[in-house]
Amino acid sequence: MAIRDLRDFLAVLDTAGELHRVDAEVDSELEIACITDRQSKLPGGGKALLFHNVKGSPYPVATNLFGSPSRMALALQVEHLSLLTGKMEQLLAAPGSAPAPTLVRQAPCQEVVERHPDLGSYPFLKSWPGDGGRFITLPLVFTRDAGTGAGNCGMYRVRLFDDGCVGIRWKAGSGGFGHHQNYQAAGRPMPVAIAVGAAPALTLAAMLPLPEPLEEVSFAGYLHGAPLAMVPCLDSGLMVPADAELVIEGVIDPGATRREGAFGNHTGSYDAGEEVPLVRVTCVTRRKDPICPATVVGPPPMEDCYLAKAAERLLLPLLRRQCPEIVDLVMPVEGIFHGCAVISIEKKTAGQGRRVLERLRSEGWLKRGKLLVVVDETGQGLTLAHGFWQALNAVRFPADLVVTPDGCLGVDATGKLPEEGGEPKQLLQPDASVRARVERRWREYGFL
Ligand SMILES: Cc1cc2nc3c(=O)[nH]c(=O)nc-3n(C[C@H](O)[C@H](O)[C@H](O)COP(=O)(O)O)c2cc1C
Repeated sequence: MAIRDLRDFLAVLDTAGELHRVDAEVDSELEIACITDRQSKLPGGGKALLFHNVKGSPYPVATNLFGSPSRMALALQVEHLSLLTGKMEQLLAAPGSAPAPTLVRQAPCQEVVERHPDLGSYPFLKSWPGDGGRFITLPLVFTRDAGTGAGNCGMYRVRLFDDGCVGIRWKAGSGGFGHHQNYQAAGRPMPVAIAVGAAPALTLAAMLPLPEPLEEVSFAGYLHGAPLAMVPCLDSGLMVPADAELVIEGVIDPGATRREGAFGNHTGSYDAGEEVPLVRVTCVTRRKDPICPATVVGPPPMEDCYLAKAAERLLLPLLRRQCPEIVDLVMPVEGIFHGCAVISIEKKTAGQGRRVLERLRSEGWLKRGKLLVVVDETGQGLTLAHGFWQALNAVRFPADLVVTPDGCLGVDATGKLPEEGGEPKQLLQPDASVRARVERRWREYGFL
């Protein structure tokens, strides 16, 4: 079944036995997050959860949707996440194959228009006791460059304030942040649209640092195999996914900020929060019966770990463009996205391991990595365990360590060539004919 929106995805999860429905009344303040946290720590990531009966709100909440390798693969309609690397390679070879979205004039996300919305009636979560309030944790934030008109869709957490305003925390360097800078410089109000609940591929695309000129919406269409339908907002020229569950439209007036946070994060502690751009909400448009998806972040493993795994497979071809000698990488879930990576390379020249580290830290996905370890490609497939084993055997302390002033430890754990002071190594391999014999006789030894 083709997945066009959140509802299609929920139906696919249901058919696959990956969805658990909760009919008992639950509180969007702390209780849903606590259930989700517990579920996501079950072997294999538990199940996706659909809470039908949320205290004080007529709308259901869905969590842990992407919280396992199999659900992530279902979301992106691939048999296995490893297939994403080939898909990305094909796209980079033919960038035109990412389909431009189709424009529609009537959309499910505009079935109902609320000019004076009560944001408190929506079951957005307060996840941890010390959180400053409720947050939209899986938002798709649409903005546009004031000069070029180029669009961006990014995932930045959104804080709900009691007076119906919301705050967006986009970090310096993100697409939304750049657009805001331009509007601020021009002293102009900035239109923003926050879509909630859309095609799963768009949710993933919103959290990827895609290279220009690839836009998130076209990229999501490419992953889904069909263009996404987009509709113009009511109050601005911004385009939003027609099949979204709901859309918050608003404006950031020049200089308008408010303090958000604290926010319990994947570090296992609270972000103190900061002054963030304040959005004056002008309207909410929605389906008649919107479902609110949410994610809970905290100590791993949680849903974002599996989103990171999909990102890892998709970003590998981009890293190979940066450093063609890269064969594979593995990012442990504890590093959440780009915190830690073991990278295997085809090493041919002295100093190559260090050069790869320098290039990865200069730009791109891993530039904010805290621990990057480069090992040799062995032809046996890279796993975390194998990569660390290789690294511990090859590394020479402290000569192979690179500590950057901005807080990254790079480890060149490649085998050293004679000109680097290393000795040639002969890798352990079973005798080929004995291996063939053992394989042939395996059952004879009494093994299955
Ligand atoms: C669950 C989740 C929450 C995130 N929250 C934020 C956030 O609050 N602020 C932020 O700048 N980036 C956040 N990110 C990372 C951005 O989504 C990511 O950097 C993305 O590339 C931003 O899009 P852009 O490159 O178009 O700016 C989050 C990612 C995930 C998976």
